[in-house]
Amino acid sequence: MQTLYTADDLRTRVAELAARIRADHPDDLHLICVLKGAYIFMADLVRAIPGDVTMDFIALSSYGRGTTSSGEVRLLKDLDSALDGRNVVVVEDIVDSGTTMVYLQEILKARNPKSLRTACLLSKPSRRKVDVTVEYIGFEIEDRFVVGYGLDHAERYRNLPFIGVVTE
Ligand code: IMP
Ligand code: MG
Repeated sequence: MQTLYTADDLRTRVAELAARIRADHPDDLHLICVLKGAYIFMADLVRAIPGDVTMDFIALSSYGRGTTSSGEVRLLKDLDSALDGRNVVVVEDIVDSGTTMVYLQEILKARNPKSLRTACLLSKPSRRKVDVTVEYIGFEIEDRFVVGYGLDHAERYRNLPFIGVVTE
């Protein structure tokens, strides 16, 4: 396992994103965590955001056991509460082809939030297949499959406190 970002790197960057998100949403702020990959990012992010925040969780279909997207997205678990009039920030682990995020943004926009922005810890711009707007990006990375800090490969490695690349 090769380390790409240490726990310290992640802590520093997450704190910066938290400050920006709070500054852009000084009053109402509703965070939506995309399960499962974003749960650790979300947990650290919300604890770095001062003041009032509400949150909810949504689950979308993932890659299954492979490392390439099927391009098919399914809603596995919906939100518990309405978005009407809320200032919403979607919290995702990684934007790769962009397919998942575009699908999710469409679903959420249809629910009439006052504003809708997106935060992802990682982005692989060279892999983009669809145009997607992401306001808050932790790190832009090369086209490599990464694990840890919530991200998995076939459900393993989510517990690693750093982001790593699996080496053969
Ligand atoms: P997209 O729809 O191609 O943008 O895929 C996004 C989803 O694929 C993310 O939410 C992740 O769950 C998963 N994914 C993409 N790249 C990686 C990776 O390098 N490691 C772990 N999961 C990934
Ligand atoms: Mg994901």
